[in-house]
Amino acid sequence: MFSRFARTTAKTSLRTARRSMSNSSRRGPATSLRAPLVAGAGGASLLAAAAYSECAPNSVIGHLQSLSDRMTAIEGALGVGLSVFRSELDKIASVKTSNPGNRAAKYFDEGWFAGLGLPAQKTMINIVRTGFENPDSGLGCYAMTPSDYDEFSEFFEPVIRDYHGAGPDAVHVTDWDASDVGENGVLDVTKLGLPELSMRVRVGRNLASFNLPGSMDQAERIRFEKTMLKAFEKLVDDPEYGGNIYSLSPDHGDGPNPNLISDKKYNELVKAHVMFKDMDADPYLKSAGIASDWPYGRGCWQSKDKQCIIWFGEEDQLRIMCMKKGSRLDEVFNRLKKMLDTVESIDGINFAKSDKYGYITSCPSNLGTGMRASVHVKVPNLTSDGTDRKAKEICGPLGLSVRGTGGEHTPIGADGTIDVSPRARLFIK
Ligand code: ADP
Ligand code: ARG
Repeated sequence: MFSRFARTTAKTSLRTARRSMSNSSRRGPATSLRAPLVAGAGGASLLAAAAYSECAPNSVIGHLQSLSDRMTAIEGALGVGLSVFRSELDKIASVKTSNPGNRAAKYFDEGWFAGLGLPAQKTMINIVRTGFENPDSGLGCYAMTPSDYDEFSEFFEPVIRDYHGAGPDAVHVTDWDASDVGENGVLDVTKLGLPELSMRVRVGRNLASFNLPGSMDQAERIRFEKTMLKAFEKLVDDPEYGGNIYSLSPDHGDGPNPNLISDKKYNELVKAHVMFKDMDADPYLKSAGIASDWPYGRGCWQSKDKQCIIWFGEEDQLRIMCMKKGSRLDEVFNRLKKMLDTVESIDGINFAKSDKYGYITSCPSNLGTGMRASVHVKVPNLTSDGTDRKAKEICGPLGLSVRGTGGEHTPIGADGTIDVSPRARLFIK
């Protein structure tokens, strides 16, 4: 028993030290230990010392940083941080009882949490905040950095395998070969007696070199937008795509934003399903910090023919999609693949991936392919009560999700139109 405790403690302390070091390098010189020092007397020289310490572990600041890391590891080993998070832990315990469908609360183990170091505990609370602040969540958690799925695997593994209905050994394999689907890869909805439909296929993607949107600050959001601008300019210059960049960032910190659009234009784009809704109005995203600093670092690029779109700064750093009205689903799927290959070949674009879970996304529901392929289809008889209740009842057991015509958490169309998409994303081809 004791040796198990000692082993866990040693592992946790190591992880804490590693995490707090990586946190400090991620956030740069203005982090916890340094901020009060810089604010005190001799700010300028200490600022210089702080900057110098980034590459000088033997400097005064370097020693203080190392001392702080070791103190944190000791605090973590002693579990003294628990009292700091008492109110959050009580809320999690209460949701565990009141909402058994909330997976974050269900799989949150207070004993395991107690063994984490303070910085890791802080991150962990941020990961599950959306779940205890929104008890009706089905998942109730979002990763804050691409490495969280590994660093907090004791928590994420059961959440992910439960949500995706997967066994302990399942590993995601990325495979875009759809030649055995439909008729040799041709998926024509008219063959099912359906008229032309509005079709959309999107994937969620995140760059490995940035935090996930839940833990970005305003400066990082702008830096991410500027990084993507270089990629968008390449697409705009490509005759296959062309198009426009639409940005909501009021400014770029160091100057005006050349792509800023008006509120009127933004609302037009939302109505046309090109731009995403006001994230600040989504309680799940708001609790997770994903909606923070709205609307900085948010916008999209749209191709000249309007069919290819890349959102930046939503739930994932990037949502990359193709959309058109027609009958051949495979055309939309193949165009998306082609566009993705182009985007991935651009310098500086390196998507975060996991050996186990495929493409990394903020929400565990989107891991793997990150893909949602949807059609807008009119089902007036199924929706005669004005709701999607019956459609959900029928579609659920078929592995299909039903959404409103404005996307997730929106009502169905007045004419009985719903958004239908396969629910599976992870451990599928
Ligand atoms: P996501 O699909 O990225 O998870 P949402 O469900 O919120 O996000 O949908 C985002 C936007 O995409 C919404 O405006 C929604 O109406 C639009 N949309 C989704 N599927 C289709 C479709 N097949 N045709 C037209 N618009 C669609
Ligand atoms: N966070 C919400 C929940 O746990 C939504 C999860 C799925 N939707 C999403 N956009 N990731 O219920």
